[in-house]
Amino acid sequence: MDSGAVEQLFTGAHTAAAFAPTPVTQEQQRAIHEMMRMPPTAMNTQPLRILWVRSPEARERLGALMSQPNRAKTLAAPLSAVLAYDVNWHEHLATLAPFRLDSQAEFAANEPLRTGMAQMSAHIQAGYFLLAARANGLDVGPMSGFDKSGVDREFLAEKGWHSFAVVNLGHPAADGAGYRDRQGRLSFEEQTLTL
Ligand SMILES: Cc1cc2nc3c(=O)[nH]c(=O)nc-3n(C[C@H](O)[C@H](O)[C@H](O)COP(=O)(O)O)c2cc1C
Repeated sequence: MDSGAVEQLFTGAHTAAAFAPTPVTQEQQRAIHEMMRMPPTAMNTQPLRILWVRSPEARERLGALMSQPNRAKTLAAPLSAVLAYDVNWHEHLATLAPFRLDSQAEFAANEPLRTGMAQMSAHIQAGYFLLAARANGLDVGPMSGFDKSGVDREFLAEKGWHSFAVVNLGHPAADGAGYRDRQGRLSFEEQTLTL
């Protein structure tokens, strides 16, 4: 990867609270998905589910469920993605892990096991999602400050998915508007051990 790509994905990218008015296209939504679905998940479970909140009416309903500090920036973003996990990932086992199809009944009977596996890999896939959005030229504003049970009731009841993050998406605002000052990062020595 050249240094421009490293900067775009990692070193130069900032969490965004404001965006340019340019819309995010459906092609960009698909391009993000095409990238984020490829990196690894436990047993290839791919439990992340995404609700794209695009229409003004749906955006108002989502805004009402955001915590107060996250409300205005969510309402002003061109697009938001609710990230959720699906505890019923085992229903796709024939696609995900045909070599484990003989365990389908065992997974079906063990919801706590499925939930733990769903949460772990969906959280990992959320990281892939953020990087895929950046790779497609977008800024991201991930947030955990919102009423998760409320979002599940309002938007996800039929699917049975469980929300855990909302990500605002859009093209970078002019001159870094909406970026906070960069806070510290932990050092190699603080975050790692080598044996
Ligand atoms: C899981 C997660 C939850 C977050 N929740 C919020 C939030 O509720 N509100 C908010 O303003 N920022 C939230 N953030 C943004 C972080 O504070 C921000 O990404 C971090 O401070 C790094 O900022 P930088 O990219 O500008 O260096 C969240 C980020 C992540 C990954």
